[in-house]
Amino acid sequence: MDFHGKLEDREILWCWKLGEDRITHWHELDAGFGGRQPIPRSWVARERGLALPPFPGLRRLARRRARDDARRDHRQALPPEERLAIYRASSVVARNLIGPGALLVLVSGFLLSLPFFTAGSVPAWLVTMQGLGLVGAIVAIGIVTPTAARMGRLELDPRGELPESFAGLRKRQVVFATVAGVFALLALLAGTVMR
Ligand code: HEM
Repeated sequence: MDFHGKLEDREILWCWKLGEDRITHWHELDAGFGGRQPIPRSWVARERGLALPPFPGLRRLARRRARDDARRDHRQALPPEERLAIYRASSVVARNLIGPGALLVLVSGFLLSLPFFTAGSVPAWLVTMQGLGLVGAIVAIGIVTPTAARMGRLELDPRGELPESFAGLRKRQVVFATVAGVFALLALLAGTVMR
């Protein structure tokens, strides 16, 4: 159901669908339901900003919020199906490069370590590298790769939006891919700077 409205002196249509508890979308006058887009939070923030609080500190806070909201909108600017397509592509990269790459690190590292183990002396830089590399590779194999695989299998929900599990999976991926990368970098430092 569409409602005529005005946004910053532009005629638009607010778009409400049965089952939604409030109006969360809009579309252009000449666009149909397929052209509906989430209402950017920065619009709401700007409307609110018309009545900026009287104290400089609070005003700064309000402006910062509006800026953060605008950034969030920027990220939401891609339609859901295109965002899913991007995650499907990066899922292919993760499953074919990151997972096997981490496995290669474990196998080659173990083989290179054999002479040190048989000689009975493992220097500190090597123990450090083994420890850090092992953790990084296990995180990459055990968490990053499976999460990427799950994100690659996501489908739009019946409303045509990103499924509920998307945000959680994405956050998990950001955290653990960073952890794996940092550990790999530290292992590299152990093998170069410490040696
Ligand atoms: C992302 C993880 C890792 C990185 C970036 C890394 C990097 C390096 C680097 C830069 C060297 C020095 C090569 C040289 O100067 O000759 C090295 C050597 C070595 N690494 Fe790693 N490494 C990683 C993980 C591992 C793991 C998990 C192990 C063992 C389980 C391992 C075992 C070794 C051994 C034994 C050597 C010495 C080879 C030799 O000189 O005979 N590394 N690695």
